[in-house]
Amino acid sequence: ASSTEVDISAIQPGQAIKAVFRKQPVFVRNLTPQEIAEANAVPLDTLRDPQTLAERTKEGKENWLITMGVCTHLGCVPLGAGEGETRGEFGGYFCPCHGSYYDTAARIRKGPAPTNLEVPEYEFTSDSVVKIG
Ligand code: FES
Repeated sequence: ASSTEVDISAIQPGQAIKAVFRKQPVFVRNLTPQEIAEANAVPLDTLRDPQTLAERTKEGKENWLITMGVCTHLGCVPLGAGEGETRGEFGGYFCPCHGSYYDTAARIRKGPAPTNLEVPEYEFTSDSVVKIG
């Protein structure tokens, strides 16, 4: 009962949805090839919390970015999963509480948040379902 199953079949490239996992928001995003390329183009030594997109996704499913929707600063819910043009200058997520900007791998790029959005434990149980937790 502590895991959450999400049907991802309707999430088009470029879209993200918000689900709920352990009473907290979780973002499930289908990255476009351009968003993947943007994430892979960032030199790791410029990152506050250096991690590659590959380290934050599953092998062969690099387009599925699954993170907690909880800002690592003080816990607000960042924008960008379902609110259209509110992803901020790095194209990922934007936390309006104090201005933290996350990139297309949900890595912190600017603002007070100390770390990337957390990637929860998850697995794909089929091509259209992901089990989080
Ligand atoms: Fe997100 Fe402060 S809680 S920037």
